[in-house]
Amino acid sequence: MEDDFSEHSKTLSPADKEKLEIQNSRLISEHKAKMLELEARKHWDLFYKRNENRFFKDRHWTTREFQDLINDAGTSKRILFEIGCGVGNFIFPLLEEKLNFDVIACDFSSKAVEILKNDPKYDPNSIKAFQCDITTPDVFSIIPINNVDIATLIFVLSAIHPNNFHQTLRNIYDLLKPGGVLLFRDYGLYDMAQLRFKAGHKISDNFYMRQDGTRSYYFSVDYIGSLLKKSGFEVISNCYIHRRTVNRKDNIDVPRIFVQCKAVKPFG
Ligand SMILES: C[S@@+](CC[C@H](N)C(=O)[O-])C[C@H]1O[C@@H](n2cnc3c(N)ncnc32)[C@H](O)[C@@H]1O
Repeated sequence: MEDDFSEHSKTLSPADKEKLEIQNSRLISEHKAKMLELEARKHWDLFYKRNENRFFKDRHWTTREFQDLINDAGTSKRILFEIGCGVGNFIFPLLEEKLNFDVIACDFSSKAVEILKNDPKYDPNSIKAFQCDITTPDVFSIIPINNVDIATLIFVLSAIHPNNFHQTLRNIYDLLKPGGVLLFRDYGLYDMAQLRFKAGHKISDNFYMRQDGTRSYYFSVDYIGSLLKKSGFEVISNCYIHRRTVNRKDNIDVPRIFVQCKAVKPFG
């Protein structure tokens, strides 16, 4: 299914506007929001205990969307750091393409990392995976600064509290070599999953709790663009992606909205 790139998210219909109004009628209490933050790791661990590697589809679109993954200028191996790797739906298809990478991968959830490492496709010669909260400085005890050629953040920043967006991007910036690239894809503003939340699920602007306690933010291109710039990046591309998820067997045909960016750590 082809992606449609755009500068615009979605024009809200009166029914969409009403859905967003209803969400505002009952927000999550401050206490509950604090608990969700404190227990964020536990909720992701439970998610992976329940779903193991059956939930996310393998991401076979990544080399099509992100040419930087293929454009290998030199002969030496590049270091790719996949943040929030989950159970490998991004990494394993990428490694199948036999690109010249050493892959480092981290996830908040130790259960996800355990499932990833137990996968027969996990080859410790080409992947090094570890548990880590990317919002903290812990990552620097594993990866030195100015070390990474390509960092990937695929449907991960949305799972992090907005108060930690800047620190997360700053940590990634510090890990990248000058000239290193961040590839980003995540949920876009007014995606159908955002409009579907009922009252009692909204935490703050564009930030929601799912039924299972995991959380999700929906990004506008303006907001992610300004976050990247504030963290020191030069934004090379930044747009909405409109895509239909079609499953004829289950009679599903839904429009999705994602945001996709490429940002570079400038030299000097
Ligand atoms: C929606 S999943 C996406 C997984 C994977 N990137 C993919 O595309 O299939 C979000 C992932 O972000 C991870 N995550 C959430 N908060 C994180 C944090 N603070 N540091 C590192 N990973 C985090 C979760 O554990 C989860 O595996």
